[in-house]
Amino acid sequence: METDGLSVLQSEFSETEKSPGRQFIIVSNEKLEYPIYLFKNEDSSYKALWMMCSHQGTELLAAGDHLVCPAHGSEFNHEGKATQGPAENNLRTFNVRSEADKLIIELK
Ligand code: FES
Repeated sequence: METDGLSVLQSEFSETEKSPGRQFIIVSNEKLEYPIYLFKNEDSSYKALWMMCSHQGTELLAAGDHLVCPAHGSEFNHEGKATQGPAENNLRTFNVRSEADKLIIELK
């Protein structure tokens, strides 16, 4: 069991006959207090964001390429930057590295 990272198959983002490639996925497990939003940039780099609103800690909702807070309407872009208040601070981010066919979200 990994303790310092969460792994996701890169193929989760792949294009298939039935669906176009995905732009983001939500990663969660029982040990995480909040889910993680994993976004694939056009240059195939990835960004992982903690889905906890920096205003008062409400769990955020993914709305395509950005996140919204159902509590008071704050918005964050896929870089984790607060784009609409009342939240002023950006979201916590995690490093993402690729290893063979996997992406590892570094939780430290
Ligand atoms: S808790 Fe998210 S905007 Fe207030």
